[in-house]
Amino acid sequence: MLKIITVIGARPQIIKAAALSRAIHNHFSQRIREIIIHTGQHYDAGMSQVFFDELGIPEPHYNLGVGSGPHGRQTARMIEGLENILLNEQPGFLVLYGDTNSTLAGAIAASKLHIPIVHIEAGLRSFNKSMPEEINRIMCDHVSTLLFSPTETGLANLIREGFKEAALPPWSSDNPKIYHCGDVMYDNTLYFAQMAEEKSEILEAHGLISGNYLLSTIHRDNNTDIPERLNAIFKALDTISRSREIQVVMPLHPRTARLLKQNLTTEIYSSVNDNKLIKVIPPVSFLDMTRLEKNARLILTDSGGVQKEAYFFEKPCVIARSETEWVEIVEAGAGIIADADSERLSNALEAFLDHPPIQYPKVFGDGEAARFICDQMLKMAEGEGYSKTHKAVKDDLHDKNLPDETKKSGELSIPMNDAFRMTDDKLKSE
Ligand code: UD1
Ligand code: UDP
Repeated sequence: MLKIITVIGARPQIIKAAALSRAIHNHFSQRIREIIIHTGQHYDAGMSQVFFDELGIPEPHYNLGVGSGPHGRQTARMIEGLENILLNEQPGFLVLYGDTNSTLAGAIAASKLHIPIVHIEAGLRSFNKSMPEEINRIMCDHVSTLLFSPTETGLANLIREGFKEAALPPWSSDNPKIYHCGDVMYDNTLYFAQMAEEKSEILEAHGLISGNYLLSTIHRDNNTDIPERLNAIFKALDTISRSREIQVVMPLHPRTARLLKQNLTTEIYSSVNDNKLIKVIPPVSFLDMTRLEKNARLILTDSGGVQKEAYFFEKPCVIARSETEWVEIVEAGAGIIADADSERLSNALEAFLDHPPIQYPKVFGDGEAARFICDQMLKMAEGEGYSKTHKAVKDDLHDKNLPDETKKSGELSIPMNDAFRMTDDKLKSE
């Protein structure tokens, strides 16, 4: 039995993890055992627990309860907690998603322990290192062993950075294997779209008319924390809703919700407040979000995941950023990059209302990305391409250097080299 550990922390990772957990449950339950660690990066019920309740993800075996904080402190606390658990659990792989601080923490903790990293959503680049996510994803990619890119662009980015498509086994972090496999989020959309239509009552709850509302989410720090940008976005939404008599629904990330009063001008804040067509609501569940996306007329967002889901449901998407990692959406004519500039945003919204895109080429796989990823992990663990790198644990990782609380747990009473050997033997025999 291959033991893997999955690290989740932020909302989109919890949602993405549902696809892998479902594939394991449906197809690999005799061969893969998954242990889930929640870093606690997102902790409000509407940003975390709701997804476990709704999407059939197993409850996490561990929750580090790290919470919010400055990047360094938040990431450091995660690394410390993850290291302790990894030393105890000795997984065959650590599975990481995307580009959040939880991803970076997992990458640092596992790579230093020589535990092979599986990076799902590898190769995406914004080419903008002022985004914390760009730093996180580059660092994670470059210490990973199996890298799964959802798009061809992602694969090409990796090749440009020196990854070799034809790398021969055995694979390791020094000789990684890259794949183009489709997007686990597309797996989820295909799986949950019908269920969302049947179960969600979000349209009725907010009096939304199918096909005649604009869905918007905003949460990037450069949009929420820079008043000019936040004002530009809300001004564009307020203007379009009034001029085209279109409803706007905004499930808001708690960070954005908290900053509205502080960062919007009194004029824009009052205008949005008085605008009966704009409904600002708390974050919604995944089924509610899926139904909102499926029935929207168009979408305006700075979210990576929401851009893609807009595309899955063939909805035009205005991107409130200066660039996107999901360039295929823009190339297909289904997305317009409008930054946080009220004129560009208004023009893009008008353009899509008048001339909706007609083409949505299939570029995100076939809905079986998670199954493919499990297959590749098993191939490597069961021999083909299996590198013994993580067996070669150095002396400096012996239990004499472990933090006190790890020693106290009692689970590490054997020296680390023995612990690793047990894992390797287990992998070989099962
Ligand atoms: C994080 C990710 C981002 C991802 C987003 C998904 C990083 C660097 N960023 O951004 O890539 O797109 O998650 O949603 O990892 N907060 C709450 N309750 C919560 C969680 C957060 O109130 O449950 C508030 C706190 O004020 C916190 C702020 O949101 O300081 C930001 O949270 P944080 O997790 O640091 O970053 P996100 O903006 O959520
Ligand atoms: N999402 C959700 N409820 C919301 C907003 C978003 O379920 O109120 C889902 C959305 O459908 C997508 C994911 O969260 O699957 C995107 O996460 P987010 O926008 O927080 O982060 P990003 O994708 O930008 O990293």
